Amino acid sequence: MKLSSQEFELLRKYIHDICGLAISDNKAYLIRQRLEPLAMAHGCNTFSEFYQLISRSSLPMLQEKIINAITTNETSFFRDGHPFAAFEEHILPKLGKMICDRKARPTPRKGPKVRLWSAGSSSGQESYSLAMLIQEYAAANRHLSISEEDFGILATDISSKVLSRAMTGEYSEAEIKRGLSPDRSAKYFKKAGQRWTINSSIRSMVEFRQINLVRPFGMLGGFDVIFCRNVLIYFDNSTKTRVIDQFFNMLSQEGILILGATENVYGISDRFDSVHHGPTLLYRKCV
Ligand SMILES: C[S@@+](CC[C@H](N)C(=O)[O-])C[C@H]1O[C@@H](n2cnc3c(N)ncnc32)[C@H](O)[C@@H]1O
Repeated sequence: MKLSSQEFELLRKYIHDICGLAISDNKAYLIRQRLEPLAMAHGCNTFSEFYQLISRSSLPMLQEKIINAITTNETSFFRDGHPFAAFEEHILPKLGKMICDRKARPTPRKGPKVRLWSAGSSSGQESYSLAMLIQEYAAANRHLSISEEDFGILATDISSKVLSRAMTGEYSEAEIKRGLSPDRSAKYFKKAGQRWTINSSIRSMVEFRQINLVRPFGMLGGFDVIFCRNVLIYFDNSTKTRVIDQFFNMLSQEGILILGATENVYGISDRFDSVHHGPTLLYRKCV
């Protein structure tokens, strides 16, 4: 199906409005490749007809299908390795101390003592990788009365398609081989045929919700760690600024923000300091 420059402009504005994705001039093929099957399935012979269909009436189901089709959901367990090493070696001991301090308060709050958020979690590998590290840390620190229940992990994404996959906790052999050691695959998964299903003890540590980062999300409450990796690269600077400002407001005073390897807050926000842990940049609120 041909995509004229006018159709491209209309569709990229529509996509930017619903999910923040900024599609650059040289990426018209993304719209063509990813939306053409949807347009045809809805009986449209041209992208103009498709645009008329989506702009004529509010069609939440169609909007959801467009989001599912246009987002890039690339992910893997322990993606890039080093952010998870930083989490294990640097952040988890700090969270352990936070947990002990918060439990020692005269009126400790009920529920998890520290909260983590995987924002733009795709099919769940990032949040489950964190859950595995937390379970291993808790097992090694029972003498401090630290347990998995002290950690709350929220994983969110805009795409209903990847979220429902994440919730099943089922992965293909290829997905398991990308990032998981044989030890962890055997320890945390059950294999049936070609499908690997995550253990309920890890699955139950993660709560999944559909959240659009370009809409207000302050109602999610406060967090001690926010992982938002390989999501902001798809946004323009004004959208990045709005998202980062909300992260700032939601992070606890000692909270840490981790972005993807090619992302940073420079030119976006001057309210964070960064420290290196190996190649990983950890952002904290400026004091
Ligand atoms: C490339 S994946 C990154 C997954 C994971 N964080 C990682 O680094 O492996 C980007 C994810 O961001 C999600 N995303 C894109 N726009 C979003 C938005 N406006 N709100 C929430 N999630 C969004 C996509 O659906 C996709 O699953």
